Amino acid sequence: MGMAKMPKPIKISSIVEPGDGVYLGQDNTTGESIILSNKELNQHTFLCGTTGSGKTTTIFCFIEYALTSNIPLIVIDGKGDPDFVETLSSMAANHKRTFQVFSISNPEHSNHYNPLSCGGPTELKDRLMELSEWTEPHYQYMAERYLQLALTLFEKAFETFDLHSFIFGLAPDKLEALANKIEAPESVLDYLKTIDKRGISGLIDRLTLIIESQIGHLFSDEPGKTISLPDVLNSKSVVLFSLDSLSYPLYSKLLGRLIINDLKAVASRRKKDDPLVITIYDEFNVFASRNVVDFVNKSRSKGFASLIATQSLADLDIVDIALKKQILQNCNTLIIQRQNDAEDAEELSKIIGTEETWMMTHQINNTGGTGLGSLRFVKEFIIHPDQIKRLQVGQAVIARKIPEFKIHETTIRLIKR
Ligand SMILES: Nc1ncnc2c1ncn2[C@@H]1O[C@H](COP(=O)(O)OP(=O)(O)O)[C@@H](O)[C@H]1O
Ligand SMILES: [Mg+2]
Repeated sequence: MGMAKMPKPIKISSIVEPGDGVYLGQDNTTGESIILSNKELNQHTFLCGTTGSGKTTTIFCFIEYALTSNIPLIVIDGKGDPDFVETLSSMAANHKRTFQVFSISNPEHSNHYNPLSCGGPTELKDRLMELSEWTEPHYQYMAERYLQLALTLFEKAFETFDLHSFIFGLAPDKLEALANKIEAPESVLDYLKTIDKRGISGLIDRLTLIIESQIGHLFSDEPGKTISLPDVLNSKSVVLFSLDSLSYPLYSKLLGRLIINDLKAVASRRKKDDPLVITIYDEFNVFASRNVVDFVNKSRSKGFASLIATQSLADLDIVDIALKKQILQNCNTLIIQRQNDAEDAEELSKIIGTEETWMMTHQINNTGGTGLGSLRFVKEFIIHPDQIKRLQVGQAVIARKIPEFKIHETTIRLIKR
């Protein structure tokens, strides 16, 4: 009688091939490898977890995949963690990928960035208008018209221009000189001559604030040192925008929006079957707006895969009450790490949903159990809120919709850095 042969344990590394997708770990119950394919990534991922729960570590699984699979990678870190810069920089070097960083808090070691490298006058006008809040429609329209004209003149006069030189040349007298030089139509010159200078001074002041800031010089074009998003995609390189919400909350928000609007223009110029681009938004609430979610939604058909990470759902409510719903509608994969807040945990639990199970209820009287009972059909949370509150560092609950609804409990794997 021969002994039954023990099956050989499957070595995970031998079944996950580079190019398969983002490998997050193994399902605690089934042992199945959790790999998010390109198709699933393209349906976007939402990741939430309180500080220290392991979010950034999870993000690095996505980064590793982009690096090993030669996928262009754009990361925006709202908090501006210096470790993030260092780790991504060395990982990119290990994978022989071109790496650029734009850093608000470390301008001496930052690349420059030209947020005006992609887009026509109207797109660029919208991009710049979004940098400030306009309460008075009268001034808003005035500013819009002026900006659009200025951008049209700049486009005619120069092949490319950067934010620094644009804002510098925005004063009415400078613009008039430019209009004369390129022989702009009479109507343009008349408009510039008669413009209400006080009416547009608000616009000019607001924009000038950016280029006069501590990081203002980073918006000038320096050959070989300037980040241009169309180039990032073409050369499949890696770029990190390291914002700093703690020390520079306003700039972080503005810059985040500038980058998103730039990305939007880049995405709209892509063709349907262009290869995947991975975009990661860590500490997303710092620069979140409906506009960002709108972009994420539309970018799907342009080959973008987005990972949106934030501490909690409540963080999004603070920005905009409609944001949470929009994000949850647009992200088909949900990665949940520890939540401290009971309400947040319960809401996530509800999103994952319930399952129907049989429950035995027992009858008791004043002497104890009667031995009688009934079997009832009840709905229970698939993942109970307490379970979300008790997740350890690195542990996660993953809810997927692609290709079918599936829930995993797992410990996220630590990648080699
Ligand atoms: N999956 C994991 N396995 C082991 N340690 C982890 C894991 N995820 C995070 N850690 C450790 O926990 C700490 C916090 O992780 P981090 O990813 O920075 O959290 P967060 O971004 O949510 O604040 C780090 O020191 C990290 O090494
Ligand atoms: Mg983090």
